Amino acid sequence: MINLIFLGPPGAGKGTQSAKIIDEYKVVQISTGDLLRAAVKAGSELGKEAKVYMDGGQLVPDRLIIDMMKERFQSDDCKNGFILDGFPRTTAQAEALDSMLVNDLKTSITHIISLEVDDEVVVTRNTGRRVCPKCGATYHIKFNPPKTGGVCNNDGETLVHRDDDREETIRKRLAVYHQTTALLKDYYGKSGKFHELNGDDTTDNVFAAIKKILD
Ligand code: AP5
Ligand code: MG
Repeated sequence: MINLIFLGPPGAGKGTQSAKIIDEYKVVQISTGDLLRAAVKAGSELGKEAKVYMDGGQLVPDRLIIDMMKERFQSDDCKNGFILDGFPRTTAQAEALDSMLVNDLKTSITHIISLEVDDEVVVTRNTGRRVCPKCGATYHIKFNPPKTGGVCNNDGETLVHRDDDREETIRKRLAVYHQTTALLKDYYGKSGKFHELNGDDTTDNVFAAIKKILD
């Protein structure tokens, strides 16, 4: 059973590596960023409230995130293992997760992997990122371009640039990461399940290092 928490700055490759882990280990990916973007697209109350924070590169308030995750965890597909991509991001979220694991999910986290990537690499990766609005596949204009210019390999949809992937917003997201989310490395550091990995390598090499931890 794999119940993995992915830590790491914006653009570390959490989404990219999650896609590979899903294929290999048949677990589900739960990305709070993806759930929030879906809520924004659907125009729900949550989406309307979250959008202001997301566009500003700030964290969405804990109460909204924790309620959203409580609901997500009710789904049966979580029972065979999951990857938490982008959650928890604050100590309050980590404590709420601990309580959900004990009281609701009756399971525990098996691995915590922190992908380490320097700030300037993050900026290059995120400014060049393009995503498919239909299937969510992620590309990079230079490091992982689609086969045909500007359209998704899977479904031919025109790729889009995320609203928060402008350089100014990326730098704000990085500052928030260093001030708040990076502290979770201490929260989990002594759990005996924590691994720090160099994320600044090819996608395949990073995945090989992850497999060594998960196998
Ligand atoms: P979220 O969607 O989680 O964004 P993030 O954490 O900033 O992470 P990213 O999705 O930007 O990066 P990634 O690590 O997935 O990298 P990727 O694989 O795409 O959150 C967005 C916002 O939602 C937050 O700012 C916040 O407002 C809100 N939010 C979400 N969760 C929250 C929470 N728990 N609490 C409060 N607020 C929350 O890769 C990036 C690029 O690099 C791609 O182009 C990819 O092709 C390329 N790439 C990947 N790996 C490599 C490689 N090895 N070599 C070269 N290029 C690579
Ligand atoms: Mg992501």
